[in-house]
Amino acid sequence: MPEDLLAHKPQRRRFLRIATAMTGALAGCSDSGAKKDAAATMEETEPSLLGKIASPYGERAKFEKAKRSTRESKTPAAGSSGTPLQDTYGIITPSSLHFERHHSGVPEIDPAKHTLLIHGMVERPLVLSVADIKRMPSMSRIHFVECSGNSGGEWSGKGGPDPQRSHGLASCSEWTGVLLSTLLAEAGVKKEAKWLLAEGADACKMGRSVPIEKAMADAMVVYGQNGEAIRPEQGYPLRLLLPGWEGNINVKWLHRIHLADQPFYTKDETSKYTDLMADGKARIFTWEMDAKSVITAPCGGQKLEGKGFREISGLAWSGRGRIEKVEVSTDGGKTWAAAQLQEPRYPKAFTRFRLPWTWDGSDAVLSSRAIDETGYVQPSRQALIDVRGTNSQYHCNSIKAWKVAADGSVTNVEA
Ligand code: CO
Repeated sequence: MPEDLLAHKPQRRRFLRIATAMTGALAGCSDSGAKKDAAATMEETEPSLLGKIASPYGERAKFEKAKRSTRESKTPAAGSSGTPLQDTYGIITPSSLHFERHHSGVPEIDPAKHTLLIHGMVERPLVLSVADIKRMPSMSRIHFVECSGNSGGEWSGKGGPDPQRSHGLASCSEWTGVLLSTLLAEAGVKKEAKWLLAEGADACKMGRSVPIEKAMADAMVVYGQNGEAIRPEQGYPLRLLLPGWEGNINVKWLHRIHLADQPFYTKDETSKYTDLMADGKARIFTWEMDAKSVITAPCGGQKLEGKGFREISGLAWSGRGRIEKVEVSTDGGKTWAAAQLQEPRYPKAFTRFRLPWTWDGSDAVLSSRAIDETGYVQPSRQALIDVRGTNSQYHCNSIKAWKVAADGSVTNVEA
């Protein structure tokens, strides 16, 4: 017998002892029924047949069922899909589960034929190929992208029944590309240029006006996502990334940047993505995503199997920088406890928070509030409505609550 197989045996026994100890520890606070002999269970479930050979591109285990929730809109090929936040771990959203929003479908673009035009108020108009851009100094950064319509249903008080349908138009990836300021330096921006139009190559030519300050600060043109090329539904082969700013302005399938001395007032920043206030006036150019958080476990749609220990976990993010603190309440907001934050905490990125919790089997209302590095505190729903009214579908970042009932069922409840 090969040496490594012999060496494996004592290790396995050690693991079984830990498993038995865990069963004992959890038994005291669990109502679940018969206790099986751990060793016998291991023998029954351990595979003994040869497995699959190596494959050229990976797939997840067939037992894993997490998927995006899809929603169509009236416009042909337009729609959105939401990330199942309750089924993700850590801070990175798998590229295959990143939320989508597109206004005329996902175009199929050959990167060998795709170009980025930079023109208008520049010294040297440029037409760059994807290969040109990949030759330039690159960088990778972890950032969330959130649709400003995310949680729009929360204004009404009905709210989404689970994190996917209440907060799923937000995802977080490691993005790789070049700083937009690098490309603009190549083109030589004239000093009278104060804005740029970013336009996509999709059928509706999705376009947005971007102030030059943001373009120069931390904007990127990205081609990589989580270690591979960005997905077609995320803008393959090139996407504009404006960290912390509403999803729609992170223009996908980016093919044109036009420098000018004023904004362009495109249809997607006038007919949509403006915030209608209570007095009937609309706010325009509201880009920054306010600090927000949601508990993803336990959460709406789940059923707790018996009282006892379980971890409360969730995600927090802010378009202004790092998450500084997340507080969790299990009594409907009467008392709050500081959650543990996963390190390192990146600015304008998801931050995972965790808090140990022992459920005593009675009704509980779980909620979280995020505080970012600017001191901004995620507001209650009522505090938000007092300032903004209920006309807008955009930029809802109110505290979210889940109710745990005595039978273990978890449902959406108004915070
Ligand atoms: Co906005």
